Amino acid sequence: MALVSWSDEYSVGIPRMDMQHQRWFDLINMLHQAMAQGEADTKVGAILEEVRAYTRTHFSEEEALMEQYAFPGFTGHKRVHDAFIKQLDDMVRMGGNSRVLLSMEAMRTMKDWLVRHIQQMDQHYARFLVDKLPPEPPPPPLFRMKSSGVH
Ligand SMILES: [Fe+2]
Ligand SMILES: [Fe+2]
Repeated sequence: MALVSWSDEYSVGIPRMDMQHQRWFDLINMLHQAMAQGEADTKVGAILEEVRAYTRTHFSEEEALMEQYAFPGFTGHKRVHDAFIKQLDDMVRMGGNSRVLLSMEAMRTMKDWLVRHIQQMDQHYARFLVDKLPPEPPPPPLFRMKSSGVH
């Protein structure tokens, strides 16, 4: 069973950020499943590394957006991001050096942190930004009917 499932209550109202948060949930579920099945620590370590890389990418995109639109809570939000990255760095280092598997307890703490962060801090900056962002571009047309001139 998935550790965390996406639902609308997690939406921040910015489709691109929602997609990234969903991908984040997928990675957390993959990590949880690998741990629950007692997969080799190499596999757990590889997914954890991916979680860390993805988190870095997501945080920098979010921070760029906040900076671009001069969100007043930017500094505090970034500080919270940086602290979480540091925790992930520690987890990766611990797993790498001593081959200690991430505990289920640590896993749940991480999941709770992500959910809380989205519902509090991310939804907060998103409310500030949502009406300032340009509309998402429409999807490309599947077909363009061309008049051939032949009847
Ligand atoms: Fe986020
Ligand atoms: Fe955030």
